[in-house]
Amino acid sequence: MQAFNKKTFERKTKQIKLGRNDKCWCGSGKKYKQCHQAFDERIMQIADQGHLVPDREMIKNQDQIAGIRQSAKINIAVLDYITEHIHVGITTEEIDQMVYDVTTKMGGMPAPLNYQGYPKSVCTSVNDQVCHGIPSKDVILKEGDIVNVDASTILNGYFSDSSRMFCIGEVSREKQRLVDVTKECVEIGLKEVKPWGFIGDMGQAIHDHAFENGYTVVREIGGHGVGLEFHEDPWVNYNSFRGEEMLMVPGMIFTIEPMVNMGKADIYMDEKNGWTTYTEDGKPSAQWEVMVLVTEDGAEVLSY
Ligand code: MF3
Ligand code: CO
Repeated sequence: MQAFNKKTFERKTKQIKLGRNDKCWCGSGKKYKQCHQAFDERIMQIADQGHLVPDREMIKNQDQIAGIRQSAKINIAVLDYITEHIHVGITTEEIDQMVYDVTTKMGGMPAPLNYQGYPKSVCTSVNDQVCHGIPSKDVILKEGDIVNVDASTILNGYFSDSSRMFCIGEVSREKQRLVDVTKECVEIGLKEVKPWGFIGDMGQAIHDHAFENGYTVVREIGGHGVGLEFHEDPWVNYNSFRGEEMLMVPGMIFTIEPMVNMGKADIYMDEKNGWTTYTEDGKPSAQWEVMVLVTEDGAEVLSY
């Protein structure tokens, strides 16, 4: 899907050519003038000022939101289960098996499995692995490790996505602080999610907090729209500025998932498996991911 600037938005809108008394595009059954007409006009005005605005496919209706919420319930249950069962000496392969079992028992499917050739049900990224760590029986979690477990679920065609960090046994003060500050980044970012604000409001807040603590934020990989697909527009960038990036409007769903590095921001991908990303300097990286719905008056966290 494509993010639209004003020209494309106008072209799309004209194609649909809704009159004031036509049924609204959102599926509410109401007349356009009693539903999304003023909303569309407000978006057009903001596009007119040169901002990137969402297209209609990024704005979920009540039925879709209900379906995505059900999917997210499984995602949360999976991460709760891992929170209970992760321990020193567990392999990331065992975590993968747990994710598969809990998800399928609840009627869902792990979204990563076979996604663009990804071989497992979950991503487990340890220490200097930034993201997309592939579970393996050879990776045994040991005292002092920090690990991100990134779960995503499909239920009835609806997608959910969130991740948590786990500290294995006693970890160093430095690693603990990285994990805590990264969580704070997400919480601070969430406060900036409200209708008629911009993704960059959240991006800058996250970046500033990481930077003030002496950390860097990965540039190349960010958050994304989610719900009807695993990865949708918009792209959620944290190396961004207040008032920039895409406009946020009610009904949009996206992830906030900054990858925060203890050292430099630079990363590289493992060429052998084509997935796992590491910090270039070998220092630890942390990530928390939430999935958030923009509401009429703020934000609702759907998965965490
Ligand atoms: N869950 C990751 C995200 O937050 C995506 C992983 S893609 C996979 O966007 F194939 F590696 F699972
Ligand atoms: Co994600």
